[in-house]
Amino acid sequence: MSGRHVLIIGAGSVGRRHARNLASLGCRVSAMDPRAERGAGLAAETPAIATFTDLDAALAAPGLDAVAVCSPTAFHVDQAIASLRAGLPVLLEKPVARDLAAARRLADVVDETGLPLLLGYTWRWWPPLADLRRRLADGVVGRPRHVDFIMSAHLADWHPGEPLAEFFMSSAELGGGALLDESHWIDLMLWLFGMPTALSASVETISDLEITSDDNVDMQLVYPDGLRVRIHLDLYGRPHRKEIRFIGENGTVLWSEAPNRIAVAHGMTADWRATDFDCERNDMFMGVARAFLTLLDGDAAPACTLADGLNVMRLIEAARQSHAEGRRVALT
Ligand SMILES: NC(=O)c1ccc[n+]([C@@H]2O[C@H](COP(=O)([O-])OP(=O)(O)OC[C@H]3O[C@@H](n4cnc5c(N)ncnc54)[C@H](O)[C@@H]3O)[C@@H](O)[C@H]2O)c1
Repeated sequence: MSGRHVLIIGAGSVGRRHARNLASLGCRVSAMDPRAERGAGLAAETPAIATFTDLDAALAAPGLDAVAVCSPTAFHVDQAIASLRAGLPVLLEKPVARDLAAARRLADVVDETGLPLLLGYTWRWWPPLADLRRRLADGVVGRPRHVDFIMSAHLADWHPGEPLAEFFMSSAELGGGALLDESHWIDLMLWLFGMPTALSASVETISDLEITSDDNVDMQLVYPDGLRVRIHLDLYGRPHRKEIRFIGENGTVLWSEAPNRIAVAHGMTADWRATDFDCERNDMFMGVARAFLTLLDGDAAPACTLADGLNVMRLIEAARQSHAEGRRVALT
């Protein structure tokens, strides 16, 4: 598993994190970022074989085993395609693309090359959520009837010290915004319940943040077996909240990031039985890094596939359509 040489494309926040984690698992890393100081910043933290500001030069470097695409979302598809065409397996940060058509272009190249691609919807590797998924499958609250997902986090807190105008999240063109970037929660819904049959959504910019991307998303999703889901995503909320509430036929289960907890209650009163966890944010990124190295060893199928990412993109596209046309959209 150790000793693999991974090229990190995009040496920003998540690129530096993947570099640190992969190095801690015995990998060697190189980095590519058009901003030379970003590559240098990564190398100052994690010794790098080489740093590049040009993608073609980086992909032509000798001895590469794999690539991690950690650039702004608008570049994911072209850079993943270039990496696959260079014969390199890819760890692709979420979301796959800005739109479904671009994501499908990548799917064609994955099919054509047959190379492994792991998609980084990292919350799938968050131990309490894996625990929750097992409990739901075991019927902890009976059949879920209503589920409420909330992700609320003020964008100005994400990269303190970096002007918002320079952060890709503020730019619709670069693939920022709540709908694309917080699509973790759409992925988790699909991971837990599969594809819904219809959705209605609003996708808006309603805060005073100076951004061209969206900062408020409300989605309502319909499942055929009497399950209803709401997803709220925003970029203006303080304190930050990441929570899911599942109301089932026999009780309610709550998951929250802070406190790091699952709580279950079955009776009429709020008599919660809580389980607290002590995992830390980086644990899920370590989970992804380990899964990627296992995939490179040929030992497992990807735990989060491009097909999963395409399903998220289908819902993102349907949400945009629903908002634009002011109506519920069927997902056929
Ligand atoms: N899985 C997760 O939980 C998670 C967490 C954070 C970010 N992400 C995803 O990772 C991506 C990057 O996010 P971030 O927070 O690290 O952003 P960031 O702004 O911190 O880093 C992006 C880096 O990419 C560089 N860049 C710009 N144009 C580029 C290009 N053409 N080629 C290569 N690099 C380029 C920028 O200079 C910057 O250093 C986004 O798609 C985001 O959604 C995922």
